[in-house]
Amino acid sequence: MQALEYKSFLRFQFGKMLDEICGGTLRPVLVNTLMDRETGALLIKPEGLNEVAQAEDMVKFSTAVAHLLGRSNYDAMSGQFYARFVVENVDNSDSYLRQPHRVMELHNDGTFVDQITDYVLMQKIDEQNMEGGNSLILHLDDWEELNKFYTHPLARRVLRWTAPPSKRVDKDVFHSIFDTDAEGRPTMRYIDQFVQPENYEEGVWLFDMSTSLETSRKKLSVPVPVGSFLLINNLFWLHGRDRFTAHPGLRRELMRQRGYFSYPKLGHHHGQTAN
Ligand SMILES: [Fe+2]
Repeated sequence: MQALEYKSFLRFQFGKMLDEICGGTLRPVLVNTLMDRETGALLIKPEGLNEVAQAEDMVKFSTAVAHLLGRSNYDAMSGQFYARFVVENVDNSDSYLRQPHRVMELHNDGTFVDQITDYVLMQKIDEQNMEGGNSLILHLDDWEELNKFYTHPLARRVLRWTAPPSKRVDKDVFHSIFDTDAEGRPTMRYIDQFVQPENYEEGVWLFDMSTSLETSRKKLSVPVPVGSFLLINNLFWLHGRDRFTAHPGLRRELMRQRGYFSYPKLGHHHGQTAN
């Protein structure tokens, strides 16, 4: 693990080794699924990785998968290319990330960094005394009111985004919620907790949009078993987490990586950094 943390290129070599074990068939499946607007997401269940004692093997495996697609960004919260974090029954943090008893609303990742986040990988490392807490995901094209919000004048307004202190990002970033990909389809970069509306007009519009997302009937509720991970296209899939039931022995450990696609044929996001 330490070598993977110190030497970036090893992460790609891990990807190559995994793809070779799969006879060269894994990389095209990953790339095509993540890039295809009709899919754009995978739930990967590695056989034989299913308990917390194998945490490092889990991270190695998912790192290999991520680096067949692209490169995972620096995660300021952990100071590494990935972040492991624990959710427990009691929490004193400053965002809903670690707070069990409420829904974490649908959002995109990477809204408060000046770097495009094409993919998000979310792996379950441990789970004890958990009831509920499924991942919630929504494809942008399934959202009933996408067009209403995407065509609104505020859709392209540049807004300010501020991360809470735990994220260790001290600089605000500025970008609109909606954008358009190379094929003219809507993309989104949004999270309710970090957007800072400047006035009444923006504030009430954001409230309406948040309500519309949270009441969508097209949300999918996905259980992610220990060892498994969701890998989603972050520009047209929103994600969140359902509430879970309080339990004194509750423990959940997660690992995330988020990054940009670097597959040669598919690098059309690279010029498109935050405004
Ligand atoms: Fe997230």
